[in-house]
Amino acid sequence: MANQIGTVGVLGAGQMGLGIAQVAASAGLKTILVKATPGDTEALRKKIDGALAKAVEREKDPEKQKAASERHQKAMAALTTTSDFAALAPCDVVIESIIEDVATKHAAFTKLDGLCGADTIFASNTSTLGITEMAVKTKRPDRFIGLHFFNPAPAMKLVEIGKTVVTNPEVVESAKALCLKLGKTPVVLPDTTGFVVNRLLVPYMLDAMRVWQEGTGSIADIDTAMMNGAAHPMGPFSLADFIGLDVVFHMANNLLDEYSEPRFAPPPVLRRLMLAGQLGRKTGKGFYDYSAKPAVPNPGLSR
Ligand SMILES: NC(=O)c1ccc[n+]([C@@H]2O[C@H](COP(=O)([O-])OP(=O)(O)OC[C@H]3O[C@@H](n4cnc5c(N)ncnc54)[C@H](O)[C@@H]3O)[C@@H](O)[C@H]2O)c1
Repeated sequence: MANQIGTVGVLGAGQMGLGIAQVAASAGLKTILVKATPGDTEALRKKIDGALAKAVEREKDPEKQKAASERHQKAMAALTTTSDFAALAPCDVVIESIIEDVATKHAAFTKLDGLCGADTIFASNTSTLGITEMAVKTKRPDRFIGLHFFNPAPAMKLVEIGKTVVTNPEVVESAKALCLKLGKTPVVLPDTTGFVVNRLLVPYMLDAMRVWQEGTGSIADIDTAMMNGAAHPMGPFSLADFIGLDVVFHMANNLLDEYSEPRFAPPPVLRRLMLAGQLGRKTGKGFYDYSAKPAVPNPGLSR
């Protein structure tokens, strides 16, 4: 019998961790969001509260608005935010969503191994690190799985479930059931760097950077072209800024490391923006400057 998941732990309260916790609490599951670095955990509650309040406001139909309001109240009652790792001990699953750095993730799972029960499923929301590599360093490689949500987690339907050669099939079934309970569409994939979406999407964003470096169109022109010519909801530069340029950079290097194909190599402009700490929307500047409303192409990249 696959485990019934009643309590969800989320480790890491960045843009993805917050979103995943919001989704789990909104589905009525007891949700424990643990901030892995020092900081205000009450502010996290307020962020999720604010996001759910906005979702209620967006509903125009009175019946649907009433239902959204009830979900909001239930979600806030189901949610705990803390920076105490020990709060994750009773969880049926812990979804790790901290910085995309393998050593930091290993250290976090080692700590969790000592705190959580033997049945607790460990899941990583990594975009491009190996699930197998993380799993084998824990005491429960058979109860370790990839659960790759998309940004923003409350809006995006897909979850890529990454199973390794040693994942227990019951854990896969539990993960699928959890995704369905969260209103998501799961696809089960073997553990491969980048799964499907990032394997295709990362080289696309890197190619856009190379096209710009070669002088074929401005940042705004390339985004406009892809939005209007390929019906993409946002262009490749807006998308990279939205994901976070540090995340894109790490994904590119992990894919390059796995496949040794030049198309995964980070172009110089990405590395320079990284070095300058201009990481996209989350820092206010990346390929665009978000201090202007609406955002304008980053003046530092003018030529
Ligand atoms: N951004 C995306 O579009 C996206 C989509 C899917 C999956 N992911 C993956 O989700 C994970 C988190 O990404 P994010 O976009 O939320 O990043 P983020 O920068 O918004 O958040 C990262 C979190 O890691 C924590 N952190 C930083 N240094 C740490 C350390 N030394 N030890 C422990 N925690 C530390 C930070 O406090 C923060 O809460 C990554 O593995 C990323 O690859 C990201």
